Amino acid sequence: MKIDILTLFPEMFSPLNSSILKRAVDAGILEFNLINIRDFSKDKHKKCDDYPFGGGAGMLMSVQPIYDAIKSVKKENSKIIFPSPKGVKFDHKKAKELSRFEHLIFVCGHYEGVDERIFELFDIEEISLGDYVLTGGELPSMVMIDSLSRFVDGVISKESLENESFSNGLLEYPQYTRPAVFEGIKVPEVLLSGNHQEVERWRKEESFKCTKKSRKDLL
Ligand SMILES: C[S@@+](CC[C@H](N)C(=O)[O-])C[C@H]1O[C@@H](n2cnc3c(N)ncnc32)[C@H](O)[C@@H]1O
Repeated sequence: MKIDILTLFPEMFSPLNSSILKRAVDAGILEFNLINIRDFSKDKHKKCDDYPFGGGAGMLMSVQPIYDAIKSVKKENSKIIFPSPKGVKFDHKKAKELSRFEHLIFVCGHYEGVDERIFELFDIEEISLGDYVLTGGELPSMVMIDSLSRFVDGVISKESLENESFSNGLLEYPQYTRPAVFEGIKVPEVLLSGNHQEVERWRKEESFKCTKKSRKDLL
């Protein structure tokens, strides 16, 4: 999968170059391409923002540099995403859906947002991380990219995906690793029993309890 990221702040994206995502890039499964929107500005000072018509606080990203930046990477099968508090809420299902595209383009807004005409010029899906406002689309893009990448074949094991929170509609059960006792706290006996059926039964029960405690809305 190829992901083009259009931003005024490419230096913010170093987290994509570590850990699991870096391994996926090195293996040729994922390809990230950072594009500086400023490089497309036709303004002599490379300006990419301006005052909003009608007045109001802050600056808006101008339509021309974003338009040309999108045109430089867009293909017929590209899916364009604009992270925005006004968009549909991002969740497990949306991450899975986005992971099926061969080519994604993330357009990162900043300041007060972008000139609305960009949404008339391209078919763009606005997606929100939640009901709060961030300073820019860079962090939400990274969150979405991280989450959807896990569903791309070969990035992590199929087994890891199957037992994850939300994969079966519930939150994940508690997990433990060595040592079996730490500061007097013991790992639940059943997990040391070697009885796989009992472990499975315990995990299902715990998963249900966890969900009931923190996310009743999922039940
Ligand atoms: C300060 S925000 C602009 C908020 C906008 N004026 C509004 O009231 O809806 C700047 C940029 O951050 C990104 N952003 C902010 N909050 C977000 C959220 N909850 N989810 C996704 N992107 C967000 C968007 O790209 C947005 O254009």
